[in-house]
Amino acid sequence: MIKKIIGGAVGLGLLLGLVVFIYLLTNNKLSIGYNKGYEPTQPIPFSHKKHAGQYGIDCKYCHTSVEVSRHSSVPSMNICMNCHLSVGVGKEWIQKLQKQYADNKPIAWQKVHLLPDHVKFNHAAHINAKKDCNTCHGPVEEMEKVYQYQDLSMGWCVNCHRGDYDNSISKEDLKKLKEGGHTQAPINCSTCHY
Ligand code: HEC
Ligand code: HEC
Ligand code: HEC
Ligand code: HEC
Ligand code: HEC
Repeated sequence: MIKKIIGGAVGLGLLLGLVVFIYLLTNNKLSIGYNKGYEPTQPIPFSHKKHAGQYGIDCKYCHTSVEVSRHSSVPSMNICMNCHLSVGVGKEWIQKLQKQYADNKPIAWQKVHLLPDHVKFNHAAHINAKKDCNTCHGPVEEMEKVYQYQDLSMGWCVNCHRGDYDNSISKEDLKKLKEGGHTQAPINCSTCHY
């Protein structure tokens, strides 16, 4: 009898746990296996806080392809050298940078963000839809070292795409939303998957 009660209680507990777990998982409150917060060490301690924050250099000055391409390029050394042939030349890291430039050796920057191969992402589409870098990358201009700010899960992508686009709303309401300046994005699988 006692055994049955204990067994029942344990079973119920497990079931409840499972329900809560599935709830958390499907509502994006858990990000198992995602690299949120990933912050690799870079070969040169390049600071966004200094360059983009303190000196106010525009993101697009360095990430030049972000408006036109799927990828937002990481700058080549030429861009650094626009300044560092003459700026900070007494500093140890700048001398290293200049040596690498002279030797024609690119810097092996470590990638921070990486989606799986089966996912299509496109910077240009988002920038042209007036999405801000900070929405997806966080306050980069305050980061000494860049880290992954969002979990980049499918739920995260789809939530935003669905945010202003829902198949259940009427054509009329959709028109109103559009006129109100709302952007919308498709949520069919082939939008994001090969
Ligand atoms: C528009 C000008 C500009 C560009 C472009 C630029 N920097 Fe700088 N950077 C600066 C200035 C200004 C400082 C501060 C120098 C100082 O404190 O004497 C600095 C400082 C640094 C420092 C810190 C030096 C130290 O030891 O204090 C590093 C490292 C650095 N930059 C790397 C880079 C790299 C790598 C790039 C290219 C991806 C780059 N910078 C592009 C202007 C620039
Ligand atoms: C002076 C050049 C420069 C400016 C200005 C700059 N960046 Fe960067 N950015 C870099 C370099 C170099 C790297 C690669 C090294 C690193 O991750 O720190 C990088 C890396 C990144 C990454 C990580 C890329 C990856 O590997 O996944 C993001 C995101 C990013 N920058 C966003 C921004 C945003 C947003 C701004 C404006 C607020 C900005 N950057 C301004 C030079 C710059
Ligand atoms: C809608 C979200 C979103 C916006 C807005 C966005 N990014 Fe990204 N960014 C991402 C994702 C997702 C990745 C990873 C892409 C991959 O692995 O294919 C990424 C990767 C990057 C990278 C690494 C190189 C690459 O393309 O893989 C850089 C650099 C970067 N972003 C800079 C920027 C800058 C600068 C802006 C603003 C001008 C910006 N991003 C706006 C989501 C965004
Ligand atoms: C902050 C909101 C937001 C987030 C987060 C976001 N998107 Fe988008 N996405 C949009 C908007 C808005 C558009 C533009 C729709 C248009 O122009 O019709 C778009 C467009 C796209 C397109 C181009 C669709 C086309 O026109 O062919 C792709 C692909 C895409 N997103 C993939 C992704 C992926 C993958 C992620 C997650 C890694 C993601 N998006 C995250 C808002 C977002
Ligand atoms: C707005 C973009 C977007 C749309 C739309 C989308 N996905 Fe995804 N999907 C992603 C991203 C980003 C990932 C990788 C991150 C992750 O696994 O959560 C992913 C991962 C997956 C995975 C792999 C999960 C794993 O564990 O590796 C499958 C399977 C998948 N999606 C199926 C679908 C199907 C089926 C649809 C249509 C009903 C769909 N996706 C629509 C962005 C999207």
